[in-house]
Amino acid sequence: MYILGIESSCDETAAAVIKDGRTICSNIIASQIDIHRVYGGVVPEIASRHHLNNILPVVASSLETAKVELCDLAGISVTFGPGLVGALLVGVAAAKGLALTTGLPLYPVHHIAAHIAANFLSDPAPQPPFVSLVVSGGHSHIIRVKSMTDYEILGSTRDDAAGEAFDKVARAVGLGYPGGPLIDRASEGGNPQAIHFPETDFGAGEFDYSFSGVKTAALNYLNQMEQYRRRDPEMYQQYFTLSDFCASFQYAVNHALIRQLMEAAAEFPNESIVLAGGVAANRSLRADLAEACDRAGRQLFCPPLELCTDNAAMVAALGYQLAKAGVSPATGQLDAVAGLPIDRWSKQLSYIN
Ligand code: KG4
Ligand code: ZN
Repeated sequence: MYILGIESSCDETAAAVIKDGRTICSNIIASQIDIHRVYGGVVPEIASRHHLNNILPVVASSLETAKVELCDLAGISVTFGPGLVGALLVGVAAAKGLALTTGLPLYPVHHIAAHIAANFLSDPAPQPPFVSLVVSGGHSHIIRVKSMTDYEILGSTRDDAAGEAFDKVARAVGLGYPGGPLIDRASEGGNPQAIHFPETDFGAGEFDYSFSGVKTAALNYLNQMEQYRRRDPEMYQQYFTLSDFCASFQYAVNHALIRQLMEAAAEFPNESIVLAGGVAANRSLRADLAEACDRAGRQLFCPPLELCTDNAAMVAALGYQLAKAGVSPATGQLDAVAGLPIDRWSKQLSYIN
């Protein structure tokens, strides 16, 4: 059973064909990173225009690479939210057009749920119920996944997302965009204990995150270093080491992510832990979380590195799960939604029969 997935929620125009929910037949991504890099972040209108240029060639390429025709497909799935509304609209419009002309069922996919579903594309795959940490440029959530159509938010960020904090601090230290992978690389060989950055803890039983404090502390540290540099370049050389700075900042973010996740997961001691989202590509997060899970005797699933950041294979993987669960396909009224909590989305799903 082949499902075509379409993703355009931010700065990647992507289409993929997945067989039986597990096997990647094609996974095409037209990334706009080089276009947005000069602006230091994604410019929504520019993103929408590039999606418009890229969407049909990307879909055609995904079918060609998978060696399937539209008539071989069992369904189409598309990310309809959350994300940049103008960007989402392009994928949704293309998917609706394809569904209308082929008569194929169209499954509307929640972007965060799709990130979690990326874990079905490696072996072994997790089995719900499980506790998932979804960390990306726009989201930092601890989610209990009861099934792939039933989600409960245990905690979420009250301000910046983890990836957003990585991106802002990377920009301030002159590393560029997107910041997460650059901080990941620059922290190599650095001492994670060199600088102490504060972590926010809302107290026992509270699993929310806050990354604006650690971000501001890192920016203040950089300002202080800049003053040293102006006053006394030699002293600055002595005090500032990029790898120590990056390793310490990364440690503070990852430590907070893992601490809250393990606390929340302790309430579900028999369930495995599942990592997802762009920040899941962070090497030290993967290593430290693996160690924490080992210590706690918990099974950990991480998506393949190339499926952590936005892609359409994860959208097709979730589309398959929705079809299998008997979720009713979307009608022609399907619209893009900029903000949509995953639990509300799952409660709104309707079922055939
Ligand atoms: O999931 P994603 O592609 O887009 C959203 O849904 O937001 O995540 C992108 C985010 C960016 O903030 C990027 O800096 C971060 O994921 N990221 C990383 C790494 N690779 C990507 N953050 C930390 N370490 C990485 N290796
Ligand atoms: Zn994403």
